[in-house]
Amino acid sequence: MASVHSLASTVNQRVADALSAALPEAGAADPLLRRSDRADFQANGILALAKKAKANPRELATQVVAGLPAGSAGDVIKEIEVSGPGFLNITVADRAIIETLAARAADDRLGVPLAEQPGTTVVDYAQPNVAKEMHVGHLRSAVIGAAMVEILEFTGEKVVRRHHIGDWGTQFGMLIQYLTEHPHELDHKHGGPEEGEAAMSSLNRLYKASRVLFDSDDDFKARSRDRVVALQAGDPDTLALWQRFVDESKIYFYSVFNKLDMEINDPDVVGESGYNAMLEETCQILEDSGVAVRSDGALCVFFDDVKGPDGKPSPLIVKKSNGGYGYAATDLSAIRDRVKNLGASTLVYVVDARQSLHFKMVFETARRAGWLNEDVHAVQLAFGTVLGKDGKPFKTREGETVRLVDLLDEAVDRATAVVREKADKVGLTEEEIVENGRYVGIGAVKYADLSTSASRDYKFDLDQMVSLNGDTSVYLQYAYARIRSIIRRAGESKPTAHPELELAPAERALGLHLDRFAEVLSEVAASYEPHKLAAYLYQLASHLTTFYDQCQVISADNPPEVVENRLFLVDLTARTLHQGMALLGIRTPERL
Ligand code: ARG
Repeated sequence: MASVHSLASTVNQRVADALSAALPEAGAADPLLRRSDRADFQANGILALAKKAKANPRELATQVVAGLPAGSAGDVIKEIEVSGPGFLNITVADRAIIETLAARAADDRLGVPLAEQPGTTVVDYAQPNVAKEMHVGHLRSAVIGAAMVEILEFTGEKVVRRHHIGDWGTQFGMLIQYLTEHPHELDHKHGGPEEGEAAMSSLNRLYKASRVLFDSDDDFKARSRDRVVALQAGDPDTLALWQRFVDESKIYFYSVFNKLDMEINDPDVVGESGYNAMLEETCQILEDSGVAVRSDGALCVFFDDVKGPDGKPSPLIVKKSNGGYGYAATDLSAIRDRVKNLGASTLVYVVDARQSLHFKMVFETARRAGWLNEDVHAVQLAFGTVLGKDGKPFKTREGETVRLVDLLDEAVDRATAVVREKADKVGLTEEEIVENGRYVGIGAVKYADLSTSASRDYKFDLDQMVSLNGDTSVYLQYAYARIRSIIRRAGESKPTAHPELELAPAERALGLHLDRFAEVLSEVAASYEPHKLAAYLYQLASHLTTFYDQCQVISADNPPEVVENRLFLVDLTARTLHQGMALLGIRTPERL
């Protein structure tokens, strides 16, 4: 494993050295190197530094250039010139591009460094609710969370996954009471255990039936309330029934995650109930320390800037006046567990933006209690709403929430049709068509979610998602498969770097973009913005398309070393695409 300095960082360092030689009082000043259309890079930092030192920026820039012996053999910088009021335009040597990429290619990690001081991040994601159907909102948390987990792990961070499923609370009193009074409702229709989706539809039926009774029958309501108390007090019969709901639901969750081509492991599923034993102590600590106070019998935490519509302070309620604990007490206990027992340095919550106020209050409470501090911080990776084509929150024609499984099935159907159209040309077997259809369909759904900034709403539009042109996963998957096919057809010629060759503009552009992979990943990991990785991969595929237009890889007109060097470039592109897509949870079939 050898991490590789990117060309940008090497050039930046050279310019920084020349800069501090020319202007010693600037110290280790950053020349602010950026990719540029005019040259390979532009350094913009000299203007501000000159201004500060009351120097003439163009003169300073000229001095920096004089201190950089550009163009000498073996040097990274081929050309450097002053432009405008004091910018530097920098072109790197073709040799340097290929040599850097060769170092990346020689490494399994494509030269991406591991974090020097990795911490432990707990990622709270993919948290559906027991006895309820999964919908598109759960899709976002699962897809974005899984991508962040992979990206963080790849950069060397220790990651603990937590699926904070909704498996506790008042609705279980209602469900359990109903089941006690209608004991055969959950019996399996065909004797044996039901498949995930069938299990869910019986649960759903039960949920609806119990809800109707709860809303119409006051006696049942009262019995349900007593049932919650029994549940929280640990009554064995009640717990056993509750466990049935949880087990049944988990079978269903796993079947959906499986459909999503996503691995969820049992030990990582720690639902709300998992913190039950801590709730009382959490409240005690908060009350003893004065962080929480009694208000109308409830235990509350107040915030100056959180007010209700009536202008009165709207507190976070950690314990209700009837003694019940809610969502906040659970989340606060989970923070204690994650910090104290799991040793977390960062907590990331991949949760709908509509819960932002809850997390703001929970985090602030945890800070006042000292559970979060300079060494341990928490962030909500808040995501927006999935909209229908009409731009309104996604609903069925009947106005109901759309079941996630239905959407996924439809995506796979559409994708399979797309794959089938080209299957003859590529020579795919029926089995391969089915497998690719699944990878393309599920990839399309994931990519559509991951390619827009999480905080924004997006429209769920399957036609657009499986389109071969534009910013879609299929476009990236085809780019990958096409490279693989070129390499298969190359016969004797193997991908080999030839740093001595002069590069065509499209080769340089592709090469410089490949060199950015590690930088993009570290940025994405630090900012929790997987859409920037998606954008990088899409640009990579676009550079590849331009490269194909302008450069033939296999051609009798090309000298053998040009063929090898171009194979080397596309091979590294394929590996980068494959790695990047894998981090996003998307497969790249070899033949498509
Ligand atoms: N189960 C919740 C829901 O479906 C999401 C849980 C989010 N995580 C948390 N620690 N509160 O809305």
